[in-house]
Amino acid sequence: MRAKARAHSNIALIKYWGKRDERLNLPAVGSISLTLSALWTETEIEFSPQFQTDQLILNDKTASPEETGRTSRFLDVLRKLAGINHKAVIQSHNNFPTAAGLASSASGFAALTLAAARALHLSLSRKELSVLARQGSGSAARSIPGGFVEMHAGQSADGSDAFAEPIAPPAHWDIRLLIGITSGAAKKIGSTAGMNLSKTTSPYYQAWIDAQHADLTAMRQAILDRDFERLGELSEYSCLKMHALALSSNPGILYWNGVTVEAMHAVRDLRRRGTPAYFTIDAGPQIKVLCLPEDENEVREMLESIPGIREVVSNKPGPDARILEADE
Ligand code: PMV
Repeated sequence: MRAKARAHSNIALIKYWGKRDERLNLPAVGSISLTLSALWTETEIEFSPQFQTDQLILNDKTASPEETGRTSRFLDVLRKLAGINHKAVIQSHNNFPTAAGLASSASGFAALTLAAARALHLSLSRKELSVLARQGSGSAARSIPGGFVEMHAGQSADGSDAFAEPIAPPAHWDIRLLIGITSGAAKKIGSTAGMNLSKTTSPYYQAWIDAQHADLTAMRQAILDRDFERLGELSEYSCLKMHALALSSNPGILYWNGVTVEAMHAVRDLRRRGTPAYFTIDAGPQIKVLCLPEDENEVREMLESIPGIREVVSNKPGPDARILEADE
């Protein structure tokens, strides 16, 4: 029982921050993301009655007990669905640095969901796959579809309506997202811990929840209208609001380093000089810049000229998660 899948990472344009249920990993707010062409995870899984324990190999190294435990608990959900108790060997490769705000958990859990469901011979819809991926990591639900994607917060207690679906396919609109890598280190406060701290301590938490609906509606429309200025403004706005929640937690969470802040100013300077470029940042120090294809070289040069930016990775809208190989 073996299968291999590839899923691409995604970056939220309208951010997710906060859970309404931690056990089922139910988001408190919906979100909208762009699936990325250049960053992906490939995961191969084999289930066998001969394996005594689950074994996770991440980028050719045995994963930590915490990472293996998280993966095991996630696989239990799929094993239960399939009525199969076999343990698994999982080999996973990211083509980018793990856990530094590059959404490796998004592509990782999406690839794992697809590969494990296939290896266990579960026949599931894309919606069901997205619901399952969410239980590994909230943003992973958004890496099942390609292109422009919306994640629904849902209202049900069991999470069956908390899934992601496409707003528009990759070919709808050729925009670019350039990632400036400012650090290869793993983030200090993971997103789950950060979200919980914001929910329990930030005085702005309820205001964030209340405003999300309007941002989602506006972003959906900007994507359908191919209105780049609107998409960029909304992305920057949602990013800064999310970081305001992190900063206003107690103790405050600061995901940026000095280079991140330099880059935010540089993006705005470029914009003042007439180039439509907008930033977004996740729970880590990397800077992501949205622009149009004709401005990609200029944005890349600008990022490369900032001391401390180690590498720039260009993305277009990326494809759906897919199976690469499977036993019949
Ligand atoms: O799904 P998680 O636990 O990786 O959390 C994602 C949180 C952010 O990346 C900061 C925002 C988002 O919507 O992707």
